[in-house]
Amino acid sequence: MAFDIEMIRKVYEEMPKRVDKARELVGRPLTLSEKILYAHLWEGEPKQGFTRGKDYVDFAPDRVACQDATAQMALLQFMHAGKPQAAVPTTVHCDHLIQAKVDAKADLKRAKEQSNEVFDFLSSISNKYGIGFWKPGAGIIHQVVLENYAFPGGMMIGTDSHTVNAGGLGMVAIGVGGADAVDVMSGMAWELKFPKLIGVKLTGKLSGWTAPKDIILKVAGILTVKGGTGAIVEYFGEGAKSLSCTGKGTICNMGAEVGATTSTFGYDESMDRYLRATNRADVADEAAKVADYLTADPEVYANPEQYFDQIIEINLSELEPYLNGPFTPDLATPISKMKEEAAKNDWPLNVQVGLIGSCTNSSYEDISRSVSIAQQASDKKLKPKSKFTITPGSEQVRFTIERDGFIDTFDKIGATVFANACGPCIGMWDRAGAEKEERNTIVHSFNRNFSKRADGNPNTLAFVGSPELVTAIAIAGDLGFNPITDKLINEDGEEVMLDEPTGWELPPNGFAVDDAGYQAPAEDGSKVEVKVSPTSERLQLLAPFEPWNGENIMGAKLLIKAYGKCTTDHISMAGPWLRFRGHLDNISNNMLIGAVNAFNMKTNLVKNEITGEYGPVPDTARAYKAAGIPTVVVGDHNYGEGSSREHAAMEPRHLGVKAVLVKSFARIHETNLKKQGMLALTFANEADYDKIQEDDVFNFIDLKEFAPGRALTLEVVHADGSKDTVIANHSYNEGQIGWFVAGSALNLIAAASRG
Ligand code: F3S
Repeated sequence: MAFDIEMIRKVYEEMPKRVDKARELVGRPLTLSEKILYAHLWEGEPKQGFTRGKDYVDFAPDRVACQDATAQMALLQFMHAGKPQAAVPTTVHCDHLIQAKVDAKADLKRAKEQSNEVFDFLSSISNKYGIGFWKPGAGIIHQVVLENYAFPGGMMIGTDSHTVNAGGLGMVAIGVGGADAVDVMSGMAWELKFPKLIGVKLTGKLSGWTAPKDIILKVAGILTVKGGTGAIVEYFGEGAKSLSCTGKGTICNMGAEVGATTSTFGYDESMDRYLRATNRADVADEAAKVADYLTADPEVYANPEQYFDQIIEINLSELEPYLNGPFTPDLATPISKMKEEAAKNDWPLNVQVGLIGSCTNSSYEDISRSVSIAQQASDKKLKPKSKFTITPGSEQVRFTIERDGFIDTFDKIGATVFANACGPCIGMWDRAGAEKEERNTIVHSFNRNFSKRADGNPNTLAFVGSPELVTAIAIAGDLGFNPITDKLINEDGEEVMLDEPTGWELPPNGFAVDDAGYQAPAEDGSKVEVKVSPTSERLQLLAPFEPWNGENIMGAKLLIKAYGKCTTDHISMAGPWLRFRGHLDNISNNMLIGAVNAFNMKTNLVKNEITGEYGPVPDTARAYKAAGIPTVVVGDHNYGEGSSREHAAMEPRHLGVKAVLVKSFARIHETNLKKQGMLALTFANEADYDKIQEDDVFNFIDLKEFAPGRALTLEVVHADGSKDTVIANHSYNEGQIGWFVAGSALNLIAAASRG
């Protein structure tokens, strides 16, 4: 059921000739990333070599995966595109809408009651359009994809930034907005700027307390949240081969935290073992036949400096466990330095909760290593000082770890097992007392730790570590605890130490599952009815956005000048707002409410130039829209970093914002703005950001000449009548300008479907 071996065979059949041709065209050996990219060109066999970081290229991904929060809007858009079936294998996974509160059973029951109409909609629309549907409780998208669909050398896109997780199985897997998914599901090409390449050479071997997680925590510290932007991170070396496939998945997963387009590993025995363990011996057999094409040419790894744009080298034998945070995943602190750093920065040492699991770290290996620590707590009479929770990544993992007695062991240390879903990782955590907003510390094995991400409390300091380290710290209840050197006092008053974690890469008795939670689509979906109530407050059929009227935009007002970090969480907050992901008008009430207004340093309080009063951003935008006044949003660096949610682009579009002008964009968000027919612009001169004042009026005086490679000129009129000219760069190509002209990319697709 779960994977399409014929599709995979076809990819492997085509791959050698395409890669050989590409090698000939570029006239040098190829990296793995390049092989996969050239094997997935929309045009088929390559006709030219591409320049990294420059050329926009059309690709033909093999698969699409959507999670429930983003799938709603993606599938509403797909419906609007007028196609009978998804053109490539596609799956939908219900994982984001399940709030963690009590335990798996109670939480799942409540989620089904609360989000029934959304799950029904997703189930019915999947059934209709040939899409595989994973029910609530089946697992987290990236874990389910790794277990069922990812394959070496494949290319997939997914409507979630951590789609990159599938790089652990040698894919090029990229997080996109729903609009991109709609393109691919509609049988159209998917466009990407040919990425740059960062090579990470891993030497040595992990041991003791160090885990694959520590590799990516270290890489995040080196590259920072921006360092991977526009690049694929390719891992290689003896150290890479020594990692498990799921460990590779963890590393690729958090590649999203350095802004990388994706990350990947060459095909090796760990992937073969994982494929066989997850019931895909046929895929492993096929992959083995083209193994040379599923890794870089030997010359590349022999002389990586010649073939990558940047090289990082990490010796795993010397690597220490890390904790990254708080508030950003690139603030990397080795545990031996944590006491000192915490004291210096006044981070509360008392750890309230340790949380393991999520899509990032819930493999059998992760859980078995954590359970080896939990077992020691029982054996050594250590009573855990912090609360402890587990969110398994899939029903297959949950069922298997229950069968193997791990859940019983966790029970003994008072752990709570949440549903196989995102829960605390995406703010869907009804944490008792969070509303008091007390300053406190938590540690988790998830990937992100932005303010409010886990429990909605801006004063929760979240630190990211490996599951085994999180377990040890939860037992100690102390952020500064270093299990390599520190002792704990047990219930008998004795000093004890925790031994190094041990575990299994794969379950010795194999994976097992009773009901994986999969629903196959109808053979013929033409008669299936899609369920959307016209009175629903959660789902709303879409109306097309207006096309551009061909005129320069004149008299636009500044809606907000965002100060500092402005992630997609700031633009379209998650948590309780997830319930409106399928209803554009309702969810627009969260637009930019987390962004800091540069003029008063407050969130959600901006000036309405019509009344002179200050009010919430969405209300102010609605007032301008009602008055027919276009608006502009101004922002800082890496604007829109974080997730792939296109709501962060659709909401401003819906509420009348015409342009977003920033110092720099996060890639996915920039594309999303373009797809929704907006102007995504960057200051040619970054210092011009400082020239923008609260009462400014913007005139786009040469929009009629909008063309690839040609900057736009903005006349910025200040309240005193003085003017500044601001040059705005853009990265639109001809096709993308077509989206702007049509009003959105979807408008173009719908027109093509109509013929
Ligand atoms: Fe879900 Fe968190 Fe992963 S939101 S998909 S568990 S990053």
